Amino acid sequence: MRRVAVLISGRGTNLERIVAEVRDGCLSGVCAVVVVVSNRPEAGGLEVARRAGIPTRVVPSSGLDGEAYGRRLLEALGPWKLDAVVLAGFMRVLSAEVVERFRNRIVNIHPADTAEYQGMDGYGWAFERGLSETKVTVHLVDEGVDTGRVLAQETVSLQGATTLDDVRRRGLDVEHDLYSRALRRWFENEGRSWDASTGGRAPCAES
Ligand code: GAR
Repeated sequence: MRRVAVLISGRGTNLERIVAEVRDGCLSGVCAVVVVVSNRPEAGGLEVARRAGIPTRVVPSSGLDGEAYGRRLLEALGPWKLDAVVLAGFMRVLSAEVVERFRNRIVNIHPADTAEYQGMDGYGWAFERGLSETKVTVHLVDEGVDTGRVLAQETVSLQGATTLDDVRRRGLDVEHDLYSRALRRWFENEGRSWDASTGGRAPCAES
């Protein structure tokens, strides 16, 4: 079973769905969420983790530049012998050092087509343009902002959506369905090559 850290900044609805799928859904027997890390102490997702009995860590990011924050994050992640890091509404750009430590093992969900729009508030971007559809994207994280290899993508119909809340609700429904399925496929397909390259050891066993 793959050992996964989930990184959050907010309410944690994607985390909640992943935890449910690990408990008795498509991620059951595939991975375990061994720790949830938030950069914000008030993130609602921390409570989701606590209710599920998953250890939590808060690594505050305010006032720290990317490099300094990356070092703190690596200290917090070090002890967990992680196979992968899953970003679920994590609103900090990871430093090059973090990306390098977990090269090709960090995955993110982005509320837009990463080829069309990168950065914050993808649903606001779609709503302002009056798009009749948008996409959500699951992708690997590299040194850029939403530039990593796409693992999965799904269309969100925005026909008849009249408010930003409506757009967000529709998008999140699609995200929740897509993320766990994409993670499962990723672990099945790419996990084998990880085993070949590391002899089955997690890449971050030593902190
Ligand atoms: C989701 O819409 C996710 O795609 C987005 O934050 C929201 C988190 O919701 N992520 C990003 O914008 C990353 N740049 P959640 O906390 O309810 O899962």
